[in-house]
Amino acid sequence: MTEEQRIVLRNADNIDPEKIEDYLQTGGYQGLEKARSMSRADLIAEIKKSNLRGRGGAAFNCGLKWSFVPADAKVTYVVCNFDEGEPGTYKDRIIVQKDPQQLLEGMAICGHAVNAKQGYIYCRGEYPYVVDLLNRAIDQARSKGVLGDFSIEVRMGGGAYVCGEESALIESIEGHRGEPRFKPPFPGVSGLWGKPTVVNNVETFANLPQIVLNGAEWFAAIGAPKYPGTKVLTLTGDVENRVFIEVPTTATLREVIFDFGGGVKNGSKFKAVQVGGTSGGFIPELLLDTSIDFDSMRSIGATLGTGAVFVMDETRDIVDIVRRIAEFFKDESCGKCNPCREGTFRCCEIMTRINKGKGTAQDIDNMTRLGKVMERVCLCGLGQASPSPILTTLQYFKHEYERKLLIS
Ligand SMILES: Cc1cc2nc3c(=O)[nH]c(=O)nc-3n(C[C@H](O)[C@H](O)[C@H](O)COP(=O)(O)O)c2cc1C
Ligand code: SF4
Repeated sequence: MTEEQRIVLRNADNIDPEKIEDYLQTGGYQGLEKARSMSRADLIAEIKKSNLRGRGGAAFNCGLKWSFVPADAKVTYVVCNFDEGEPGTYKDRIIVQKDPQQLLEGMAICGHAVNAKQGYIYCRGEYPYVVDLLNRAIDQARSKGVLGDFSIEVRMGGGAYVCGEESALIESIEGHRGEPRFKPPFPGVSGLWGKPTVVNNVETFANLPQIVLNGAEWFAAIGAPKYPGTKVLTLTGDVENRVFIEVPTTATLREVIFDFGGGVKNGSKFKAVQVGGTSGGFIPELLLDTSIDFDSMRSIGATLGTGAVFVMDETRDIVDIVRRIAEFFKDESCGKCNPCREGTFRCCEIMTRINKGKGTAQDIDNMTRLGKVMERVCLCGLGQASPSPILTTLQYFKHEYERKLLIS
């Protein structure tokens, strides 16, 4: 059986998150000290070699992303994506609440690698109490002088899901309406106020101090070779233990749900699990032995995404759940591009019709075609990923749709 392995949560409940002294006693800021003794190029090479891949959804190689920042850029920025707007996801909040200094140290390590003097944490608007904690942590780090000439400020999001998309987030920090930008250029070349900017997720930054301290090989040897390390997961829905865990990426979904989650609530039968948040695919029982790493999840049409694990028991109405998700995407589409603005609206319309028992087989064909087009042509990940719950449930749970069509 897979055991929990804690890297980013190693200090959770062992230190007082309000006291920088506690963090320092656990070796805190030694990773930054070591990073600063390295050249920028060597530090980037080390992170690239560790194969740390982004924990915010797209799983891009972290060191490779940093290497896109021009070495001769005069002004650069580091931005931490703490928008965490995905329903059912709270892993970044836990990471920050349990150990805020670790995030600051990770950002400062990145600051050294890309020659940035300023960092911003873009925090979900619904977490005002975490903003206060972060500000107190920043004050303590400043007065201890551990951050050197690297400054960090917190910015609060306004509650739009799309603002988690890195270029919409940058627009939002700049004070504009949060809409994704056309890419290229990517933020590494032209980001905040047109300057090269690294945007990484909380969990990605939080891994950095231990990677620098213990070396790239140490990290690369943990979990799945192509997506090494651990992943913080949050278990929700019809599961006995609604907990957060940190496991090596070789753990399987079955282990996560049944060993750590204690199985389906009240001894009920398992029906499906949605991994990665609202845009994640729905996975049936026969695929539960798939490991949670990004590539294995993708191979079954699912996504690891944010690490949200939403379990559904046999009583759940899949079509109704997908209809609600379609409504969520229709509401959260920023409207900038046609395929998403119109597509999410049509998907919601068709799902509502089917759910009411008034849908036809033609509706299913139309929605499948529409979803496949949206995956390819929408401007940002919101529109591109929004058909995934529809397409995966049509793949694995089509009988539930057909049952509703039959009674029409
Ligand atoms: C609609 C949408 C919402 C997103 N929300 C988040 C979020 O809340 N947190 C996050 O880290 N990444 C989010 N992302 C992914 C970011 O665009 C970006 O890939 C990520 O912050 C990069 O960090 P990483 O490389 O460390 O994963 C979102 C993407 C999309 C398309
Ligand atoms: S895909 Fe949707 S959320 Fe993204 S830019 Fe287009 S309309 Fe906006």
